[in-house]
Amino acid sequence: MPDGFTSAEERAAFIAALPKAELHLHIEGSLEPELMFELAQRNKVAIPFASVEDVRAAYAFSNLQDFLDIYYQGMGVLHSERDFYDLTAAYLTRAHADAVRHVEIFFDPQGHTDRGVAFGTVIAGITRALDDARTSYGMTSKLIMCFLRHLSEAEAEKTLDEALPFLDRIDGVGLDSSEVGHPPAKFERVFGRARSLGLKIVAHAGEEGPPAYVHEALDLLKVHRIDHGNRSLEDPALIARLAAEGMTLTVCPLSNLKLCVVNDITAHPLKTMLDAGLKATINSDDPSYFGGYVNANYQAVADALDLSKDDIVTLARNSFAGSFLNETGRAKHLAAIDAYAAAA
Ligand code: ADE
Ligand code: ZN
Repeated sequence: MPDGFTSAEERAAFIAALPKAELHLHIEGSLEPELMFELAQRNKVAIPFASVEDVRAAYAFSNLQDFLDIYYQGMGVLHSERDFYDLTAAYLTRAHADAVRHVEIFFDPQGHTDRGVAFGTVIAGITRALDDARTSYGMTSKLIMCFLRHLSEAEAEKTLDEALPFLDRIDGVGLDSSEVGHPPAKFERVFGRARSLGLKIVAHAGEEGPPAYVHEALDLLKVHRIDHGNRSLEDPALIARLAAEGMTLTVCPLSNLKLCVVNDITAHPLKTMLDAGLKATINSDDPSYFGGYVNANYQAVADALDLSKDDIVTLARNSFAGSFLNETGRAKHLAAIDAYAAAA
């Protein structure tokens, strides 16, 4: 019996309605095969799949690059403001169903501008859906623009220039794509400029890359959060530092399984992270590609690692505490979690 619950079913029901924030979600990675087909038809874009089943069958990856190849191909169906709206609105509807109260969404502008889609078209569609979710669901959001680390720093600088007219809608910058061989140091200057513009800073580090990349993200990029961070566990001094600094890690269990960062979900380090005093959170990364939205991620690790009620509450609390909401917003959600847990 899981600690704090009378059955696994009771734990599942507790997770389902628990107020939570999602802090690591690539909006392009929420493109479901059904919508991919619809948009391919709408925009007369050829895709190398005959059916939705064909697409799902192609989602077998042995590492990050395997996935990225298909992810960049998939986003090629996105062209108009309406496409970006439909994509974002579909994700927000699913997040709302998972009791997500606040989202911090990544987008990859270079994956679109390099295909001739205007930066403003991407922003307009995403932000219209975010605004609608605030009205319809009371869901708040932040938007984080990621630089593709397999491209050059000069290209990231150009993307930051393109973002300047839209900084009223962009809250932070991140770093994603192929990690190994593209360390944070490669982007030190552009992140310095982003910081001077008042943007929040995050970076994928320690997903496939070594602990040294996590150190660099902290020291050179001066991140407010680490995305993934799994390989930090190989370095005891780094674990101590992350714990002492109260650094939030946005962990993505089903992503880690699908990309072979872990061999089996029962070997996932989430519980080890919590026990080491790390501020781990649970997120879905690219839910359409990895087989589940945020609640499915909570459920997978809760079952595999037999998480207690205290563990699950800690994870949800960490998601708001590590968010870019202001102090009042964070406090309101933390109180809601405590009330929910006390009543359950
Ligand atoms: N882009 C989308 N998902 C990603 C991930 N998990 N790691 C790096 N880049 C990504
Ligand atoms: Zn990611």
